Amino acid sequence: MNTLKHKDADIIVKSPGRINLIGEHIDYNGGHVLPAAIDRKVTMLFRKKDDNLCCVKSEDKGSFAFNIQQPLQISKTQWENYILGVVDGVQRARPGQLGGFDCHISSQLPIGAGISSSAALECGVAQGLNALFDLGISDEELIEISRMAEHHFVGTKCGVMDQFAVTMGHQNKLLLLNCETRAYKLIEADFTPYKILLLNTNVSHNLASSAYNRRREACEEALRVIQKEYPQYAFLAEVPGEIVRSYKDKLSEKVYQRAIFVSQENSRTLQAAALIQEGKIKDFGQLMYEAHEGLSAKYEVSCNELDFLVALSKDMPEVVGSRMMGGGFGGCTINLVKEDFVDTFIDRATKAYKKEFDIDLTPILVATSNGVEIIKST
Ligand code: GLA
Repeated sequence: MNTLKHKDADIIVKSPGRINLIGEHIDYNGGHVLPAAIDRKVTMLFRKKDDNLCCVKSEDKGSFAFNIQQPLQISKTQWENYILGVVDGVQRARPGQLGGFDCHISSQLPIGAGISSSAALECGVAQGLNALFDLGISDEELIEISRMAEHHFVGTKCGVMDQFAVTMGHQNKLLLLNCETRAYKLIEADFTPYKILLLNTNVSHNLASSAYNRRREACEEALRVIQKEYPQYAFLAEVPGEIVRSYKDKLSEKVYQRAIFVSQENSRTLQAAALIQEGKIKDFGQLMYEAHEGLSAKYEVSCNELDFLVALSKDMPEVVGSRMMGGGFGGCTINLVKEDFVDTFIDRATKAYKKEFDIDLTPILVATSNGVEIIKST
């Protein structure tokens, strides 16, 4: 198996994780999200080989190899599918142009924490192979190849937010992304005097992927019913709130609650972007609490551990906003914390969490960063 070192690599790729300030479970509903790439990254070293063998080694996960001339199969080892899915997509986009390669992966991104270690891996491989074999594939196409790897090889019918943020992120900026048109606007990520602190619950509840897909199906069901009367709406997030509310008796209670959440969360995101631009950080923090309430009670993607941390923060005026982040069912909360209170908050939350669940909490102080970068090219 390969033991590729920095100095022997043709290409070094740094691929970031992402945070999302607000707009959760909105991307696959065609609404607005507010993510940013972060300063925690996956590093990938790539080197071309003379044969058809591709050897991938992850420092945390182990190694595997495949022949680039053979059709690629879905692996039973889930992390391999992030890579196989992307290689498969690149092969389809540029048939016959890939050869064998070595790839060495080391990561600062915890898995299952809702900060998109998976999209970091997918987009890093996509950009890395594009540069290594000089394929000239656009960012937009690489984003889609990465997203489809997740659909077809990993099995999560995700939206575009993660791959978009990981690829297009900018240091000190948030991306206000319209997931229907993929148009985006850069917003200054200035939360002074507050810092963005993630608290990783270190739990990742089972069946997260199938529960995710079921939420998506519920939204599709709501849209199908609404479209019978209002065919002009192509995505659920576009449907005005008053129309969604008029469907209370025509949708099952659960499907109705999901649809209401989507409509409210999309409006919250647009409102949040405006508030951040006006420097009204406390008001924005209030929207984070409202988003969490909706994710927990209406969309039902939170869990006890996340709810506990959000509730705890409400007693501390120095924490102006807190909510679960990402797909849910575990992972991190994202918190806006007064700079000089960060250590105290970490200390209090860690102790209370340990007492309640007997699990160690991991604090992650994050800053925004650029999207995928190729550090050294051939
Ligand atoms: C996961 C998915 C994203 C998005 C979020 C929830 O991270 O990969 O596409 O749906 O969940 O906002």
